[in-house]
Amino acid sequence: MSNSIFIDTLKGIKRERPPVWFMRQAGRVLPAYLKLREQYSFRELMLTPELAAQVTLLPVSELGVDAAILFSDILIIPEALGMDLKFTDKGPIFDSPLRDIQNQLSSLKADSSKLVHVYKALDIIKKQKPEDVALIGFCGAPFTTFCYMVEGNSMNHNFSNAIKLFYNNPKISSQILEIITELSIEYATSQAEHGIDVFQLFETHASLIPSEMYIERILPFVKRITNAVRSKNTPVIFFPKGIGAGISSINNDIADFVSIDWQMSMNDARSMCDSNIGLQGNLDPRILAIDNKEILEKELEKYLGFGKTNQNWIFNTGHGLSPDNSVENVKFVVDWVKKTNWYRD
Ligand code: CP3
Repeated sequence: MSNSIFIDTLKGIKRERPPVWFMRQAGRVLPAYLKLREQYSFRELMLTPELAAQVTLLPVSELGVDAAILFSDILIIPEALGMDLKFTDKGPIFDSPLRDIQNQLSSLKADSSKLVHVYKALDIIKKQKPEDVALIGFCGAPFTTFCYMVEGNSMNHNFSNAIKLFYNNPKISSQILEIITELSIEYATSQAEHGIDVFQLFETHASLIPSEMYIERILPFVKRITNAVRSKNTPVIFFPKGIGAGISSINNDIADFVSIDWQMSMNDARSMCDSNIGLQGNLDPRILAIDNKEILEKELEKYLGFGKTNQNWIFNTGHGLSPDNSVENVKFVVDWVKKTNWYRD
C-alpha cells in the first residue's frame, strides 16, 4: 500500500474508498482559474510551463481531488502536425481544415519541438505536486483528433464532413489516422518518460460511427498508442464516449481502465466488460449545475452498492465538467466520496 489511493487502485490494491477526480477539473469551474484567464489567454496558460503547472495543480488545493490532469488540450497534436489552430468563443477553429485541402497527406508534417512545453510543464508539476496526488497525462484518441482536423471546428456536432470523408475514402482516412497515431505514440511515451503516473486517451466522439466500425477501423490505432504507453510501465485509462454496447470489446488488451459515460450504468458496464479491466465514471456532470444538495446526495448514494463490491473503480463524471457546474457542488462530491464509509472489509 502507498500513500496514493489513486495509484493503489490502479495497481489493484484494495483501499477504503474509490479515488476521485474529474475530467476538465481545472479549466472550467474554479474561480482561481477564471481569475487567471482575465490576465492570460487559454493559449498562454497552456504554452507557458510554469502557468500550465500552476493550473494543473489548482484542483488539488481547491477541490481536494486525488489526481491532477495536465493542463493542455487534445488539439495540440494537429497543431504539431502543422495545422493553424485558434481557440475562440465558439470553440477551437482550424483555419484550413483537411476537408478544404487538395493534398491532405502532404500538408501534414510532424514537428515534435511544438510539444516540448508540455514535457517542461510535467517536470515542474512533478516537483511541486503533493506526493499522495497522482499525475495524469493525456492526448486525444485518433478518431476524435481526425474529426477535428477534417471538420475544422466543433460547431456542427455531427462532424458530418469528417464522417463523410471517413466513409467515402477509407484509404486516405486511415493514412490520416496513421499520421495522428505515430505522433500520439511519440507524445504519449514522452509524457510517460517525464513521470506521469497514468495516461488517459480521450475518444470523445466514439458515438459518431457504428460501434462495430469503431472496433474494426479505429481500435487497432488505439491499441498501438495504449500498448506503447503500457510498455513504459504507465497504466492507461481509455474513454470511448458513447461507444454503447461496443464497450464489451474494451478489455485488458486495450487498457487498464475504461471510462464510462453517464448513459450506461456502472453495473451494466461491469457486466459487459471483462473483469480484468477497471472502470472509471460516471456521474452525469449536468447534475453539478443544480442547487439542491439533497438531490445531488441521492444521486451519489446510488454508487454505494457498486463501490462496496468493486475495488477497481475510479470515481469520475461521465464527461468533462462544464462552466455551469457549481464549484460548491464539485467540492461536495469530493468531500462525500472521501467521508463516506464504503464498507470495504
Ligand atoms: O481540466 C482541464 O481543463 C484539463 C485540460 C483539458 C482541456 N481540454 C483544456 C481546455 C483537457 C483534458 C481537454 C481535453 C479536450 N479538449 C477534449 C476531450 C475531453 C472532453 O471533455 O471531451 C476535447 C474534445 C477538446 C477540444 C476542445 N478544447 C474544445 C471542444 C474546446 C472548447 C469548448 C470547451 O470545452 O471549452 C477546447 C478549449 C479548452 N480546452 C478550454 C480548456 C480549459 C477552454 C478555453 C478557454 O478558457 O476559453
